[in-house]
Amino acid sequence: MLEDTGPPDTDTDTDRSWRAAFDLLHPGVIFGGPMSDETTQSRTEVPVPYGTMAPRPPAEGELDLDALVPGHGPIELDIGFGRGMSVVRRAAKAPDARILGIEIKAKLAFRLSERVMRLGLSDRVLVWACDARETLARSGPAGCVSRAFVHFPDPWWKKRHTKRRVLGDDFLSSLARLMAPGAELFVQTDVEDRHALYVSFVEAHPDFELVDAHLDHNPFGSVSNREARAEEDGLPIHRLLARRR
Ligand SMILES: C[S@@+](CC[C@H](N)C(=O)[O-])C[C@H]1O[C@@H](n2cnc3c(N)ncnc32)[C@H](O)[C@@H]1O
Repeated sequence: MLEDTGPPDTDTDTDRSWRAAFDLLHPGVIFGGPMSDETTQSRTEVPVPYGTMAPRPPAEGELDLDALVPGHGPIELDIGFGRGMSVVRRAAKAPDARILGIEIKAKLAFRLSERVMRLGLSDRVLVWACDARETLARSGPAGCVSRAFVHFPDPWWKKRHTKRRVLGDDFLSSLARLMAPGAELFVQTDVEDRHALYVSFVEAHPDFELVDAHLDHNPFGSVSNREARAEEDGLPIHRLLARRR
């Protein structure tokens, strides 16, 4: 079973946000009750064994993303998607893209995979419950990824949790290997010093070119749950855009 690392995600999954995502995908269709996050739990009335039910990659060996992610378009990654609105919103905004969402919390991955099925996106969106660092390190082929999103990563502050941090030099190197020349990396956070740290990592990495360290909006339509909440609360959001050299 996957380790449930980190503090609980306190974002509320507002109906309004999901309704907006649903409307983008299915204009004119009525948004109904089955989209509720609590549906699975209340329908079965027994605890859902998320750790065993969440979709995940093969446990060992090289992963051929081109073969494993359904569809034929360019591959985009959403790393640590949390409640997953960014994946659904991006799928609506970029109908030609295929998206691989990776989330370490099995419960969140299971719930998003159910949503993806209900929304009819399974032909081009794949969800995996796994550690993005380990999974991307053994993924290929080189250059298969056209865009990577890392929305509000690393919700850990204690020094002893540094080893859990996703966005660091090793992770950037895995991404660099997977990303095609010119592919984009978009990272956003509401924590100013984390943003400064991410900018410094990207600037120091030989395979990335920093395009903009202070984007004032998310130009990709991939609005995440945390982003929507920060905007509602009027919190500043720090965004960087980098490009694979
Ligand atoms: C602060 S939340 C942000 C969630 C979402 N991206 C958003 O913006 O609403 C960070 C997410 O990253 C996930 N995460 C942390 N480490 C991870 C890892 N190594 N691999 C995949 N996901 C990870 C956490 O479980 C959590 O859901």
